[in-house]
Amino acid sequence: MTDLFEEKAEDWESRPAVAVISHGVGAAILEHVRLSPEMQVMDFGAGTGLICGQLAPRVGKVHAVDVSEAMLAKLAAKPELRDKVEVVCQDILTQPLERTFDLIVSAMALHHVEDTDALLRSFVRHLVPGGRVALADLDTEDGAFHPPDVEGVFHHGFDRVELRAALERAGFRDVGFATAVVLEKEGTAYPIFLVTASVGDGIC
Ligand SMILES: C[S@@+](CC[C@H](N)C(=O)[O-])C[C@H]1O[C@@H](n2cnc3c(N)ncnc32)[C@H](O)[C@@H]1O
Repeated sequence: MTDLFEEKAEDWESRPAVAVISHGVGAAILEHVRLSPEMQVMDFGAGTGLICGQLAPRVGKVHAVDVSEAMLAKLAAKPELRDKVEVVCQDILTQPLERTFDLIVSAMALHHVEDTDALLRSFVRHLVPGGRVALADLDTEDGAFHPPDVEGVFHHGFDRVELRAALERAGFRDVGFATAVVLEKEGTAYPIFLVTASVGDGIC
């Protein structure tokens, strides 16, 4: 598989927009999700670990899942994350992990996955009964957020009503949206949502 983030990995963390988004999304997760020291967390599309780094001190372990070796190499090179973050370079849609998690978080990775329904069903399969997701991405935008020739962008943001319906179709409940951060870029405001939801606890 081509690593679409190979070049971006080099300067990812020096991009001002990336800093604004990861800071806002991290703060929103901390505000809306109760974390505990025994929790096992998956960060889907973890990249260089900007979200992992904010969660790791508060949970048992973060499993950083991504398909970009280059982005994960930057994460793996951070000594402060070594004991708390496990790096997993794998496409969990085609090759699911043989374990489950208490929480799945994700920042700005959903729009890189073509089949959102399949991704959400995969998240359900990777959660313990009663497990939660906290997923951040762009609200619907006109396509100007990414350069026109960029590869691997399948969604120009997400409509909150449609995403709620997709989450419920996949088996999630207690769906709630918040605006994590609004990014100002080239004169346009791009709101970024955090959606939280949980799966049933299996008790009838
Ligand atoms: C916009 S970056 C966000 C990285 C990080 N979450 C952050 O906020 O800095 C999107 C990330 O999603 C990853 N990604 C794209 N498709 C993926 C897939 N099918 N499975 C796992 N990760 C994927 C990319 O490799 C990239 O690291």
